[in-house]
Amino acid sequence: MDYSIESLPLDKLQSDCLLVGMYENQLFSPLATALDAICNGLLRKLVSRGDIKGKNADTLLINNVPHANIERIILVGFGESGKVTRKSYRKALAAAIKTVKDSKVKAGCCALLDIQVADADIQWQTRQIIEVFNDGLYQYTATKQCDEKLPLQQLAILANPQNQPQVEIGLQQGIAIAQGVELSKQLADLPGNICTPSYLAEQAMILAGQHEKLNCEILEEKDMQALGMGAFLSVSRGSRQPAKLIGLFYQGGLPSSKPIVFIGKGLTFDAGGISLKPGLGMDEMKYDMCGGAAVLGVLRVASLLNLKLNIIGLVPSSENLPDGDANKPGDILTSMSGKTIEVLNTDAEGRLILCDTLTYAKKFNPEVVIDLATLTGACVVALGRVPSGLFGNDDPLCEELLRAGDTACDSLWRMPIWEEYLEQLKSNFADLANIGGPDGGSITAACFLSRFAEDFRWAHLDIAGTAWRTGTNKGATGRPVPLLSQYLLNYVSAG
Ligand code: BES
Ligand code: MN
Ligand code: ZN
Repeated sequence: MDYSIESLPLDKLQSDCLLVGMYENQLFSPLATALDAICNGLLRKLVSRGDIKGKNADTLLINNVPHANIERIILVGFGESGKVTRKSYRKALAAAIKTVKDSKVKAGCCALLDIQVADADIQWQTRQIIEVFNDGLYQYTATKQCDEKLPLQQLAILANPQNQPQVEIGLQQGIAIAQGVELSKQLADLPGNICTPSYLAEQAMILAGQHEKLNCEILEEKDMQALGMGAFLSVSRGSRQPAKLIGLFYQGGLPSSKPIVFIGKGLTFDAGGISLKPGLGMDEMKYDMCGGAAVLGVLRVASLLNLKLNIIGLVPSSENLPDGDANKPGDILTSMSGKTIEVLNTDAEGRLILCDTLTYAKKFNPEVVIDLATLTGACVVALGRVPSGLFGNDDPLCEELLRAGDTACDSLWRMPIWEEYLEQLKSNFADLANIGGPDGGSITAACFLSRFAEDFRWAHLDIAGTAWRTGTNKGATGRPVPLLSQYLLNYVSAG
Protein backbone atom coordinates (compact mmCIF):
# COMPACT_ATOMS: atom_id res chain seq x y z
CA MET A 1 0.00 0.00 0.00
CA ASP A 2 1.16 3.45 -0.86
CA TYR A 3 0.40 6.01 1.85
CA SER A 4 0.82 9.71 1.18
CA ILE A 5 -0.32 13.18 2.21
CA GLU A 6 -2.71 15.23 0.11
CA SER A 7 -2.85 18.96 0.70
CA LEU A 8 -5.07 20.24 -2.11
CA PRO A 9 -8.18 22.12 -1.06
CA LEU A 10 -11.36 20.06 -1.21
CA ASP A 11 -12.71 21.74 -4.33
CA LYS A 12 -9.53 20.96 -6.32
CA LEU A 13 -9.32 17.39 -5.13
CA GLN A 14 -9.74 14.45 -7.42
CA SER A 15 -10.62 11.13 -5.80
CA ASP A 16 -12.02 7.67 -6.43
CA CYS A 17 -13.29 7.63 -2.91
CA LEU A 18 -13.23 10.36 -0.30
CA LEU A 19 -13.77 9.55 3.38
CA VAL A 20 -15.30 12.27 5.55
CA GLY A 21 -16.56 12.24 9.12
CA MET A 22 -19.72 13.12 11.00
CA TYR A 23 -21.08 12.95 14.53
CA GLU A 24 -24.45 12.00 15.94
CA ASN A 25 -27.40 14.43 15.70
CA GLN A 26 -26.65 15.17 12.04
CA LEU A 27 -23.50 17.10 12.88
CA PHE A 28 -20.89 17.23 10.13
CA SER A 29 -17.16 17.65 10.51
CA PRO A 30 -15.79 20.85 8.89
CA LEU A 31 -14.64 18.93 5.81
CA ALA A 32 -17.95 17.11 5.49
CA THR A 33 -19.72 20.47 5.65
CA ALA A 34 -17.49 21.85 2.90
CA LEU A 35 -17.98 18.72 0.81
CA ASP A 36 -21.74 18.93 1.25
CA ALA A 37 -21.62 22.47 -0.13
CA ILE A 38 -19.76 21.47 -3.29
CA CYS A 39 -22.06 18.48 -3.80
CA ASN A 40 -25.26 20.50 -3.76
CA GLY A 41 -26.35 19.38 -0.30
CA LEU A 42 -26.28 15.66 -1.08
CA LEU A 43 -24.85 14.65 2.29
CA ARG A 44 -27.36 16.73 4.23
CA LYS A 45 -30.17 15.17 2.22
CA LEU A 46 -29.05 11.59 2.88
CA VAL A 47 -28.55 12.28 6.56
CA SER A 48 -31.93 14.01 6.91
CA ARG A 49 -33.73 11.04 5.48
CA GLY A 50 -31.96 8.80 7.98
CA ASP A 51 -29.47 6.88 5.81
CA ILE A 52 -26.78 7.26 8.47
CA LYS A 53 -27.09 8.22 12.14
CA GLY A 54 -23.47 9.07 12.76
CA LYS A 55 -23.10 6.64 15.62
CA ASN A 56 -19.57 5.43 16.20
CA ALA A 57 -18.49 3.06 13.41
CA ASP A 58 -21.53 3.77 11.20
CA THR A 59 -20.55 4.12 7.56
CA LEU A 60 -22.39 5.06 4.40
CA LEU A 61 -21.02 4.54 0.90
CA ILE A 62 -22.35 7.11 -1.55
CA ASN A 63 -21.97 6.36 -5.24
CA ASN A 64 -22.85 8.71 -8.10
CA VAL A 65 -21.67 11.86 -6.43
CA PRO A 66 -22.74 15.00 -8.34
CA HIS A 67 -19.18 16.28 -8.57
CA ALA A 68 -16.93 15.87 -11.56
CA ASN A 69 -13.80 14.95 -9.60
CA ILE A 70 -15.14 12.84 -6.76
CA GLU A 71 -16.42 9.41 -7.67
CA ARG A 72 -17.55 8.18 -4.29
CA ILE A 73 -17.88 9.37 -0.73
CA ILE A 74 -17.79 7.30 2.43
CA LEU A 75 -19.39 9.06 5.34
CA VAL A 76 -18.00 7.79 8.65
CA GLY A 77 -19.76 8.15 12.00
CA PHE A 78 -17.73 8.98 15.11
CA GLY A 79 -20.51 9.09 17.72
CA GLU A 80 -21.34 11.99 19.94
CA SER A 81 -19.44 15.16 19.16
CA GLY A 82 -16.97 16.15 21.89
CA LYS A 83 -16.87 12.58 23.15
CA VAL A 84 -14.60 10.88 20.63
CA THR A 85 -11.91 8.96 22.50
CA ARG A 86 -8.72 7.42 21.14
CA LYS A 87 -10.41 4.03 21.25
CA SER A 88 -13.62 5.16 19.55
CA TYR A 89 -11.63 7.02 16.87
CA ARG A 90 -9.81 3.78 16.06
CA LYS A 91 -13.03 1.79 16.09
CA ALA A 92 -14.63 4.14 13.54
CA LEU A 93 -11.47 3.98 11.39
CA ALA A 94 -11.66 0.19 11.39
CA ALA A 95 -15.26 0.36 10.17
CA ALA A 96 -14.25 2.90 7.53
CA ILE A 97 -11.50 0.75 6.06
CA LYS A 98 -13.82 -2.24 5.96
CA THR A 99 -16.25 -0.21 3.84
CA VAL A 100 -13.41 0.92 1.58
CA LYS A 101 -12.31 -2.68 1.18
CA ASP A 102 -15.83 -3.81 0.28
CA SER A 103 -16.24 -0.98 -2.22
CA LYS A 104 -13.37 -2.19 -4.41
CA VAL A 105 -11.86 1.23 -5.08
CA LYS A 106 -8.24 1.55 -6.22
CA ALA A 107 -7.36 4.80 -4.50
CA GLY A 108 -8.81 6.47 -1.48
CA CYS A 109 -8.46 9.82 0.22
CA CYS A 110 -9.00 10.03 3.94
CA ALA A 111 -10.32 13.37 5.20
CA LEU A 112 -10.74 12.35 8.84
CA LEU A 113 -8.11 14.48 10.56
CA ASP A 114 -10.69 17.16 11.36
CA ILE A 115 -12.44 14.91 13.87
CA GLN A 116 -11.76 16.14 17.42
CA VAL A 117 -10.30 13.37 19.56
CA ALA A 118 -9.88 13.82 23.31
CA ASP A 119 -6.24 13.55 24.46
CA ALA A 120 -4.91 13.21 20.93
CA ASP A 121 -3.28 15.43 18.36
CA ILE A 122 -3.07 15.45 14.57
CA GLN A 123 0.17 13.49 14.60
CA TRP A 124 -1.41 10.71 16.65
CA GLN A 125 -4.48 10.72 14.43
CA THR A 126 -2.40 10.43 11.26
CA ARG A 127 -0.48 7.55 12.71
CA GLN A 128 -3.64 5.75 13.75
CA ILE A 129 -5.19 6.13 10.31
CA ILE A 130 -2.23 4.28 8.81
CA GLU A 131 -2.05 1.69 11.59
CA VAL A 132 -5.75 0.87 11.60
CA PHE A 133 -6.10 0.93 7.83
CA ASN A 134 -3.06 -1.24 7.25
CA ASP A 135 -4.32 -3.68 9.85
CA GLY A 136 -7.72 -3.83 8.16
CA LEU A 137 -6.14 -4.41 4.76
CA TYR A 138 -3.92 -7.28 5.91
CA GLN A 139 -4.45 -10.52 4.03
CA TYR A 140 -2.84 -13.85 4.78
CA THR A 141 -1.59 -15.18 1.46
CA ALA A 142 1.37 -17.45 2.27
CA THR A 143 -0.44 -20.75 1.91
CA LYS A 144 -3.89 -19.78 0.65
CA GLN A 145 -5.25 -18.10 -2.45
CA CYS A 146 -6.85 -14.77 -1.62
CA ASP A 147 -10.63 -14.75 -1.85
CA GLU A 148 -10.25 -11.65 -3.94
CA LYS A 149 -7.30 -9.55 -4.85
CA LEU A 150 -7.35 -6.28 -2.98
CA PRO A 151 -7.85 -3.49 -5.51
CA LEU A 152 -6.89 -0.63 -3.18
CA GLN A 153 -3.36 0.54 -3.90
CA GLN A 154 -3.13 4.11 -2.72
CA LEU A 155 -4.29 5.93 0.27
CA ALA A 156 -3.82 9.64 0.75
CA ILE A 157 -4.48 11.53 3.95
CA LEU A 158 -5.96 14.96 3.44
CA ALA A 159 -4.15 17.49 5.60
CA ASN A 160 -4.39 21.19 6.09
CA PRO A 161 -1.03 22.67 4.89
CA GLN A 162 -0.60 24.29 8.32
CA ASN A 163 -0.50 20.85 9.91
CA GLN A 164 1.88 19.42 7.34
CA PRO A 165 4.90 18.97 9.66
CA GLN A 166 2.96 17.01 12.28
CA VAL A 167 1.14 14.98 9.67
CA GLU A 168 4.47 14.18 8.01
CA ILE A 169 5.85 12.75 11.28
CA GLY A 170 2.62 10.89 11.97
CA LEU A 171 2.72 9.37 8.51
CA GLN A 172 6.30 8.20 8.91
CA GLN A 173 5.63 6.69 12.33
CA GLY A 174 2.39 5.14 11.15
CA ILE A 175 4.03 3.48 8.17
CA ALA A 176 6.89 2.13 10.28
CA ILE A 177 4.63 0.75 13.01
CA ALA A 178 2.24 -0.70 10.43
CA GLN A 179 5.14 -2.49 8.79
CA GLY A 180 6.37 -3.86 12.11
CA VAL A 181 2.87 -5.11 12.93
CA GLU A 182 2.54 -6.61 9.46
CA LEU A 183 5.81 -8.50 9.78
CA SER A 184 4.75 -9.93 13.15
CA LYS A 185 1.37 -10.97 11.81
CA GLN A 186 2.86 -12.61 8.75
CA LEU A 187 5.32 -14.63 10.80
CA ALA A 188 2.81 -15.54 13.49
CA ASP A 189 0.12 -16.67 11.07
CA LEU A 190 2.46 -19.18 9.42
CA PRO A 191 1.99 -22.82 10.42
CA GLY A 192 4.49 -24.65 12.59
CA ASN A 193 5.71 -26.80 9.72
CA ILE A 194 6.89 -23.72 7.84
CA CYS A 195 7.75 -21.34 10.65
CA THR A 196 10.29 -23.47 12.53
CA PRO A 197 13.06 -22.07 14.74
CA SER A 198 15.40 -22.20 11.71
CA TYR A 199 12.87 -20.30 9.60
CA LEU A 200 12.50 -17.60 12.27
CA ALA A 201 16.28 -17.30 12.47
CA GLU A 202 16.47 -16.94 8.69
CA GLN A 203 13.82 -14.23 8.73
CA ALA A 204 15.78 -12.37 11.40
CA MET A 205 18.89 -12.57 9.19
CA ILE A 206 16.91 -11.23 6.22
CA LEU A 207 15.51 -8.40 8.34
CA ALA A 208 19.00 -7.46 9.50
CA GLY A 209 20.14 -7.50 5.87
CA GLN A 210 17.56 -4.84 5.07
CA HIS A 211 18.76 -2.31 7.61
CA GLU A 212 22.20 -0.88 7.94
CA LYS A 213 22.17 -0.45 11.71
CA LEU A 214 20.70 -3.86 12.40
CA ASN A 215 22.78 -7.01 12.82
CA CYS A 216 21.83 -10.56 13.56
CA GLU A 217 23.65 -13.36 15.34
CA ILE A 218 22.27 -16.83 15.85
CA LEU A 219 23.34 -19.07 18.70
CA GLU A 220 23.16 -22.76 17.84
CA GLU A 221 22.50 -25.59 20.29
CA LYS A 222 26.24 -26.21 20.75
CA ASP A 223 26.73 -22.53 21.66
CA MET A 224 23.90 -22.77 24.17
CA GLN A 225 25.41 -25.94 25.54
CA ALA A 226 28.67 -24.09 26.10
CA LEU A 227 26.78 -21.34 27.92
CA GLY A 228 25.07 -23.90 30.14
CA MET A 229 21.54 -23.19 29.01
CA GLY A 230 20.19 -26.42 30.46
CA ALA A 231 16.63 -25.18 30.88
CA PHE A 232 16.25 -23.92 27.30
CA LEU A 233 17.92 -26.98 25.75
CA SER A 234 15.77 -29.40 27.75
CA VAL A 235 12.70 -28.10 25.92
CA SER A 236 14.16 -28.53 22.46
CA ARG A 237 15.45 -32.05 23.21
CA GLY A 238 11.97 -33.37 22.44
CA SER A 239 11.99 -31.81 18.98
CA ARG A 240 13.74 -32.74 15.73
CA GLN A 241 14.08 -29.08 14.84
CA PRO A 242 17.25 -27.55 16.26
CA ALA A 243 16.66 -24.72 18.72
CA LYS A 244 17.97 -21.25 17.89
CA LEU A 245 18.68 -18.27 20.06
CA ILE A 246 18.19 -15.34 17.73
CA GLY A 247 19.98 -12.11 18.57
CA LEU A 248 19.14 -8.88 16.76
CA PHE A 249 21.36 -5.89 17.50
CA TYR A 250 20.24 -2.40 16.56
CA GLN A 251 22.89 0.27 16.98
CA GLY A 252 21.19 3.65 16.66
CA GLY A 253 22.69 5.26 19.75
CA LEU A 254 26.14 6.01 21.04
CA PRO A 255 28.27 2.90 21.57
CA SER A 256 28.38 3.79 25.26
CA SER A 257 24.63 3.95 25.76
CA LYS A 258 23.09 0.93 27.46
CA PRO A 259 20.73 -1.12 25.33
CA ILE A 260 17.03 -1.75 25.80
CA VAL A 261 16.66 -5.52 25.60
CA PHE A 262 13.49 -7.19 24.33
CA ILE A 263 13.09 -10.93 24.77
CA GLY A 264 10.34 -12.70 22.84
CA LYS A 265 9.12 -16.25 23.42
CA GLY A 266 9.57 -18.04 20.11
CA LEU A 267 7.91 -21.43 20.61
CA THR A 268 7.05 -22.26 17.01
CA PHE A 269 4.74 -25.03 18.18
CA ASP A 270 3.71 -25.96 21.70
CA ALA A 271 2.06 -29.37 21.95
CA GLY A 272 2.76 -29.39 25.68
CA GLY A 273 5.41 -32.11 25.50
CA ILE A 274 4.83 -35.22 27.62
CA SER A 275 2.21 -33.21 29.54
CA LEU A 276 0.37 -33.18 26.22
CA LYS A 277 -2.29 -30.56 25.62
CA PRO A 278 -5.85 -31.58 24.73
CA GLY A 279 -6.53 -31.73 20.98
CA LEU A 280 -9.19 -29.05 20.75
CA GLY A 281 -7.64 -25.81 19.58
CA MET A 282 -4.11 -27.19 19.67
CA ASP A 283 -3.49 -25.74 16.20
CA GLU A 284 -3.45 -22.31 17.85
CA MET A 285 -0.23 -23.21 19.59
CA LYS A 286 1.57 -22.26 16.38
CA TYR A 287 1.04 -18.77 17.82
CA ASP A 288 3.30 -19.53 20.75
CA MET A 289 6.02 -17.58 18.93
CA CYS A 290 4.08 -14.30 18.89
CA GLY A 291 6.45 -12.75 21.41
CA GLY A 292 9.36 -13.55 19.12
CA ALA A 293 7.50 -12.25 16.08
CA ALA A 294 6.81 -9.02 17.96
CA VAL A 295 10.51 -8.62 18.72
CA LEU A 296 11.31 -8.82 15.01
CA GLY A 297 8.48 -6.35 14.38
CA VAL A 298 9.73 -3.83 16.93
CA LEU A 299 13.28 -3.98 15.59
CA ARG A 300 11.89 -3.31 12.15
CA VAL A 301 10.05 -0.24 13.49
CA ALA A 302 13.17 1.04 15.25
CA SER A 303 15.23 0.57 12.08
CA LEU A 304 12.67 2.24 9.82
CA LEU A 305 12.42 5.21 12.18
CA ASN A 306 16.17 5.33 12.61
CA LEU A 307 15.71 5.69 16.38
CA LYS A 308 18.70 7.04 18.27
CA LEU A 309 18.84 4.14 20.69
CA ASN A 310 20.59 0.84 21.14
CA ILE A 311 18.17 -2.05 21.15
CA ILE A 312 18.75 -5.77 21.42
CA GLY A 313 16.14 -8.35 20.52
CA LEU A 314 16.58 -11.90 21.81
CA VAL A 315 14.31 -14.68 20.61
CA PRO A 316 14.74 -18.13 22.13
CA SER A 317 13.08 -20.40 19.60
CA SER A 318 12.17 -24.05 19.90
CA GLU A 319 9.33 -26.53 19.59
CA ASN A 320 7.74 -28.32 22.56
CA LEU A 321 6.77 -31.85 21.54
CA PRO A 322 6.38 -35.26 23.15
CA ASP A 323 9.29 -37.58 22.32
CA GLY A 324 11.38 -40.34 23.84
CA ASP A 325 14.00 -37.77 24.68
CA ALA A 326 11.63 -35.03 25.83
CA ASN A 327 11.45 -33.53 29.31
CA LYS A 328 9.49 -35.69 31.75
CA PRO A 329 7.58 -34.58 34.84
CA GLY A 330 9.97 -34.83 37.75
CA ASP A 331 13.09 -34.16 35.69
CA ILE A 332 15.52 -31.70 37.21
CA LEU A 333 17.32 -29.18 35.05
CA THR A 334 20.23 -26.88 35.73
CA SER A 335 19.64 -23.46 34.27
CA MET A 336 22.36 -21.13 33.03
CA SER A 337 22.03 -19.16 36.27
CA GLY A 338 22.98 -22.29 38.24
CA LYS A 339 19.52 -22.56 39.80
CA THR A 340 18.00 -26.02 39.48
CA ILE A 341 14.42 -26.45 38.27
CA GLU A 342 12.03 -29.34 38.80
CA VAL A 343 9.81 -29.86 35.77
CA LEU A 344 6.41 -30.63 37.25
CA ASN A 345 4.62 -29.97 33.99
CA THR A 346 6.39 -30.07 30.63
CA ASP A 347 3.77 -27.70 29.22
CA ALA A 348 5.20 -24.88 31.33
CA GLU A 349 8.06 -24.65 28.82
CA GLY A 350 7.96 -20.94 28.03
CA ARG A 351 9.51 -19.99 31.35
CA LEU A 352 12.24 -22.60 30.79
CA ILE A 353 13.42 -21.06 27.54
CA LEU A 354 12.94 -17.54 28.87
CA CYS A 355 14.82 -18.00 32.14
CA ASP A 356 18.08 -18.86 30.38
CA THR A 357 17.59 -15.98 27.96
CA LEU A 358 17.07 -13.60 30.89
CA THR A 359 20.32 -14.81 32.43
CA TYR A 360 22.03 -14.40 29.05
CA ALA A 361 20.65 -10.83 28.71
CA LYS A 362 22.71 -9.72 31.71
CA LYS A 363 25.90 -9.83 29.69
CA PHE A 364 24.67 -6.90 27.57
CA ASN A 365 24.51 -4.61 30.61
CA PRO A 366 20.92 -3.65 29.79
CA GLU A 367 19.17 -0.39 30.64
CA VAL A 368 15.95 -2.42 30.92
CA VAL A 369 14.83 -5.89 29.90
CA ILE A 370 11.28 -6.42 28.65
CA ASP A 371 10.08 -9.89 27.81
CA LEU A 372 6.97 -10.70 25.77
CA ALA A 373 5.46 -14.11 25.94
CA THR A 374 2.28 -16.04 25.25
CA LEU A 375 3.04 -17.52 28.62
CA THR A 376 -0.14 -18.65 30.35
CA GLY A 377 -3.73 -19.61 29.65
CA ALA A 378 -4.36 -18.28 33.16
CA CYS A 379 -3.65 -14.75 31.94
CA VAL A 380 -6.49 -15.10 29.43
CA VAL A 381 -8.76 -16.27 32.24
CA ALA A 382 -7.76 -13.31 34.42
CA LEU A 383 -7.83 -10.48 31.88
CA GLY A 384 -9.60 -11.75 28.79
CA ARG A 385 -8.35 -10.52 25.46
CA VAL A 386 -8.32 -6.79 26.07
CA PRO A 387 -5.13 -5.83 27.93
CA SER A 388 -1.91 -7.83 28.08
CA GLY A 389 -0.75 -8.70 31.59
CA LEU A 390 2.07 -6.51 32.90
CA PHE A 391 4.47 -7.71 35.59
CA GLY A 392 7.69 -6.07 36.65
CA ASN A 393 10.23 -5.31 39.35
CA ASP A 394 10.49 -1.57 38.68
CA ASP A 395 7.57 0.81 39.19
CA PRO A 396 8.76 3.63 36.89
CA LEU A 397 9.34 1.16 34.06
CA CYS A 398 5.86 -0.32 34.57
CA GLU A 399 4.33 3.14 34.58
CA GLU A 400 6.11 4.04 31.35
CA LEU A 401 4.78 0.88 29.75
CA LEU A 402 1.23 1.50 30.99
CA ARG A 403 1.35 5.03 29.58
CA ALA A 404 2.66 3.83 26.22
CA GLY A 405 -0.08 1.20 26.10
CA ASP A 406 -2.76 3.83 26.71
CA THR A 407 -1.46 6.10 23.97
CA ALA A 408 -1.04 3.30 21.49
CA CYS A 409 -4.42 1.72 22.35
CA ASP A 410 -2.50 -1.49 22.97
CA SER A 411 -3.21 -1.63 26.66
CA LEU A 412 -1.71 -3.37 29.66
CA TRP A 413 -2.97 -4.18 33.13
CA ARG A 414 -0.51 -4.49 35.96
CA MET A 415 -0.49 -7.65 38.03
CA PRO A 416 1.33 -8.31 41.33
CA ILE A 417 4.46 -10.41 41.73
CA TRP A 418 4.60 -10.28 45.52
CA GLU A 419 6.96 -12.57 47.33
CA GLU A 420 4.06 -14.41 48.97
CA TYR A 421 3.49 -16.13 45.65
CA LEU A 422 7.03 -17.54 45.59
CA GLU A 423 5.86 -20.10 48.16
CA GLN A 424 3.96 -21.83 45.39
CA LEU A 425 7.17 -22.42 43.44
CA LYS A 426 8.92 -24.38 46.20
CA SER A 427 10.21 -27.81 45.27
CA ASN A 428 11.44 -30.65 47.48
CA PHE A 429 14.12 -31.54 44.97
CA ALA A 430 15.21 -28.34 43.22
CA ASP A 431 15.64 -24.62 43.82
CA LEU A 432 12.40 -23.94 41.99
CA ALA A 433 9.45 -25.86 40.56
CA ASN A 434 8.38 -24.86 37.07
CA ILE A 435 4.70 -24.54 38.03
CA GLY A 436 2.94 -23.07 41.03
CA GLY A 437 -0.32 -25.00 41.03
CA PRO A 438 -3.74 -23.94 39.83
CA ASP A 439 -4.00 -20.62 41.71
CA GLY A 440 -2.80 -17.39 40.09
CA GLY A 441 -1.12 -19.16 37.19
CA SER A 442 -0.04 -16.07 35.29
CA ILE A 443 1.40 -14.59 38.48
CA THR A 444 3.40 -17.64 39.52
CA ALA A 445 4.77 -17.86 35.97
CA ALA A 446 5.91 -14.24 36.24
CA CYS A 447 7.32 -14.90 39.72
CA PHE A 448 9.34 -17.76 38.27
CA LEU A 449 10.82 -15.40 35.67
CA SER A 450 11.49 -12.72 38.29
CA ARG A 451 13.98 -15.08 39.94
CA PHE A 452 16.13 -14.75 36.82
CA ALA A 453 15.73 -11.00 36.50
CA GLU A 454 17.04 -9.84 39.83
CA ASP A 455 20.01 -7.90 38.48
CA PHE A 456 18.25 -5.44 36.19
CA ARG A 457 15.07 -3.44 35.71
CA TRP A 458 12.66 -5.87 34.15
CA ALA A 459 9.10 -6.13 32.89
CA HIS A 460 7.21 -9.12 31.57
CA LEU A 461 4.20 -8.89 29.27
CA ASP A 462 1.94 -11.93 29.16
CA ILE A 463 0.38 -11.61 25.71
CA ALA A 464 -1.46 -14.96 25.65
CA GLY A 465 -4.83 -13.21 25.34
CA THR A 466 -3.86 -10.37 23.04
CA ALA A 467 -1.40 -11.67 20.43
CA TRP A 468 -4.02 -13.46 18.36
CA ARG A 469 -7.74 -13.67 17.84
CA THR A 470 -9.44 -17.02 18.22
CA GLY A 471 -12.74 -18.25 16.73
CA THR A 472 -13.83 -17.79 13.13
CA ASN A 473 -11.70 -14.71 12.70
CA LYS A 474 -8.56 -16.49 13.91
CA GLY A 475 -5.35 -14.59 13.21
CA ALA A 476 -2.40 -12.77 14.70
CA THR A 477 -2.90 -9.19 15.92
CA GLY A 478 0.67 -7.92 15.86
CA ARG A 479 0.34 -6.82 19.48
CA PRO A 480 2.30 -5.58 21.40
CA VAL A 481 4.30 -3.97 18.57
CA PRO A 482 2.32 -0.68 18.75
CA LEU A 483 2.78 -0.45 22.51
CA LEU A 484 6.52 -1.15 22.39
CA SER A 485 7.02 1.25 19.49
CA GLN A 486 5.29 3.94 21.53
CA TYR A 487 7.47 3.07 24.51
CA LEU A 488 10.57 3.54 22.35
CA LEU A 489 9.31 6.82 20.88
CA ASN A 490 8.57 8.15 24.38
CA TYR A 491 11.98 6.94 25.54
CA VAL A 492 13.74 8.81 22.72
CA SER A 493 11.82 12.04 23.30
CA ALA A 494 12.46 11.91 27.06
CA GLY A 495 16.19 11.95 26.12
N1 BES B 1 1.83 -21.42 25.42
C1 BES B 1 1.14 -21.82 26.59
C2 BES B 1 0.25 -20.73 27.15
C3 BES B 1 -1.04 -20.47 26.42
C4 BES B 1 -2.14 -21.26 26.64
C5 BES B 1 -1.15 -19.36 25.61
C6 BES B 1 -3.33 -20.98 26.00
C7 BES B 1 -2.34 -19.09 24.99
C8 BES B 1 -3.43 -19.88 25.18
C9 BES B 1 2.14 -22.20 27.68
O1 BES B 1 3.31 -22.78 27.25
C10 BES B 1 1.44 -23.19 28.54
O2 BES B 1 1.17 -24.25 28.06
N2 BES B 1 1.17 -22.83 29.77
C11 BES B 1 0.48 -23.67 30.68
C12 BES B 1 1.11 -23.53 32.02
C13 BES B 1 0.65 -24.55 33.02
C14 BES B 1 1.12 -25.93 32.63
C15 BES B 1 1.19 -24.17 34.38
C16 BES B 1 -0.97 -23.24 30.70
O3 BES B 1 -1.25 -22.04 30.62
O4 BES B 1 -1.83 -24.11 30.77
MN1 MN C 1 3.11 -24.89 27.09
ZN1 ZN D 1 3.90 -22.36 25.38
